[in-house]
Amino acid sequence: MPSTKSIYDIYKNEPGVQESLRTLRTNIQFSSIDKPIKTITVTSVAPGEGKTSASLMLGLAMAEAGKKTLLVEVDCRRPMLGTKLKLRPKYNWTQCLYNDIPVSNAIVPTILRDLYFMDVEPQMLRLTEVLNSNKFSAMLSKLCDEFDVVIFDTPPIGIFIETAVLANQTDGTVLVIKTGFNDIKEELDAIAQLEKANAHILGVVLNGMRYTSSKYSYYHYYNKSNKDEIVKIKGRKRRTRKPSAKS
Ligand SMILES: Nc1ncnc2c1ncn2[C@@H]1O[C@H](COP(=O)(O)OP(=O)(O)OP(=O)(O)O)[C@@H](O)[C@H]1O
Ligand SMILES: [Mg+2]
Repeated sequence: MPSTKSIYDIYKNEPGVQESLRTLRTNIQFSSIDKPIKTITVTSVAPGEGKTSASLMLGLAMAEAGKKTLLVEVDCRRPMLGTKLKLRPKYNWTQCLYNDIPVSNAIVPTILRDLYFMDVEPQMLRLTEVLNSNKFSAMLSKLCDEFDVVIFDTPPIGIFIETAVLANQTDGTVLVIKTGFNDIKEELDAIAQLEKANAHILGVVLNGMRYTSSKYSYYHYYNKSNKDEIVKIKGRKRRTRKPSAKS
């Protein structure tokens, strides 16, 4: 698994990745003229499509542009952001909300300037309830005052309801799609679920993975407004099958 350093190196050294991430960053910045996009939900249909990697890389891209950025772990069943960042904060944001501790106690700096991290309580029950609470909304507005961008790494929307609850409260949602992994119906269902939750879908990150290589092959960004490109992606998926456990 790539470490933070290696993800950072990939982002720095691979022009394709840099370009895709910068395009995503720029499109996010310009996707709303009236209200800047500050809070972003990153999700996917299924597990293992690259949500955490995409959240991290988007965080790097934002921080690189001088935006004070916070990465927030929301996936309490498979919390991997802290592992990838090599950070284990003393407090997490769920603990803070439950115990009325200021949430600033849970925010820790990363090795990168302008990039901060906040963890979740592992195996947290009732996360949906927490995300629906007044305390969570208050936390969200505090974070918006303090940060330029807040990125939430979530569980797969195709499986857990809490992601739709969060997507409803954030300014925008990025859907990560691992190429050739899901069938078109699953992807359309996820988009329908996000739309039902009144989520503002900012675009799709196509994560093309070369499993034989330790390097990231590419991240492509497709804006929802570019229907031709979206159709092309969908057409390709119809002909693909889920990889076997060995892949
Ligand atoms: N483009 C890529 N090329 C190669 N490996 C990748 C790529 N994107 C992600 N990976 C690897 O695939 C695995 C799953 O990625 P990641 O943890 O980002 O997915 P996830 O959607 O967050 O998974 P989960 O649903 O378990 O939280 C990780 O080992 C990650 O390092
Ligand atoms: Mg993850």
